Amino acid sequence: MEVENVQALAVKVGAEIPQRYVRGERQEEDTVIDGNQDSNEKDIPVIDFGRLFDPEWCDEEAERLHFACRDWGFFHVINHGVLEAVIEKLKQDITEFFKLPLEEKNKVAQIQSSVEGYGQTYIHSEEQMLEWCDILFLATSPPSFKQLRFWPTNPPSCRETVDDYAAEVKRVSDDILKVISKNLGLESGMIFEMFKGGIQTFRFNYYPPCTCPEKVLGLSPHSDSAGLTLLLQVNEQHGLQIRKNGGWITVKPLPGALIANVGDITEILSNGRYKSTEHRVIVNNVKERLTVAGFQALTIGDIVGPIPEILNGEKPLYTSLELEEFAKMLFANKLDGKSNLERMKLSD
Ligand code: OGA
Ligand code: NI
Repeated sequence: MEVENVQALAVKVGAEIPQRYVRGERQEEDTVIDGNQDSNEKDIPVIDFGRLFDPEWCDEEAERLHFACRDWGFFHVINHGVLEAVIEKLKQDITEFFKLPLEEKNKVAQIQSSVEGYGQTYIHSEEQMLEWCDILFLATSPPSFKQLRFWPTNPPSCRETVDDYAAEVKRVSDDILKVISKNLGLESGMIFEMFKGGIQTFRFNYYPPCTCPEKVLGLSPHSDSAGLTLLLQVNEQHGLQIRKNGGWITVKPLPGALIANVGDITEILSNGRYKSTEHRVIVNNVKERLTVAGFQALTIGDIVGPIPEILNGEKPLYTSLELEEFAKMLFANKLDGKSNLERMKLSD
């Protein structure tokens, strides 16, 4: 179902926000707990790769990662080693892409049968609330999954830039997944092995400024369906909030850090030991916001279900499905909190 381009709409509408974007639920839901660097309870944990891979500190830092995945499902990653030049180039090219005239961006527009390309979040019905966000969605790996028709060639370096960044993100997520495997008692590195050849996708999010930011949402509350997400904040505008203790915590990005979060697949594989935390995006009336979310998932034929070695006789909390069936379920339902995860839950 086609929806309007939000960037163009934001310029056009002024203070008259179309009804399909206006959220009644924001008022009662808006207990916002402000993120604060000084308090452990109010900001997501910070995981330092410098320590995680230093023999002297690795056990301690791995334990901190375990608690971060268990209690928060979200954490900052610092000293991740992604080259500054690669990040800067990505920020530059993506910012430039979203600045292009609509006709130019539409050269890589979504088409009916595909989720990839430039456009908006998938819409299921005329009643569905719309999000204050335009996206570019691309599959970057494995190579056979790449559909270059959706990859911008303007700016000219864009494809190469995305490839370079994707390779770096893959390395960071591999490293995290190795430690996660170990933390879950899988000495074989099983979770890492499962995701190694998996599908990697990227979602480039553009949230235009809005004259009434409190009426809309950039992204509705949702949990990510993949295994692990690594989010890069492109400019200084923040807006990501995670659900915790009955309120929303604003995630204040740390300069140079990536924001990692556990996705539904990891919650399921770990039989609920790790949490795929619900999050949403609020927008502002000052300036556009840009982010790049990289998702690491499994691949075709893989089973999304609690890993037998983790269960070790314990009762599975989730059903098992082949990735294709799991993906079909995702696209048959709109993004609504953790509803996809709920569908996978087994009742007593
Ligand atoms: C996402 C997401 C958060 C953000 O793309 O799934 O949650 O801050 N993005 O853009
Ligand atoms: Ni998300």
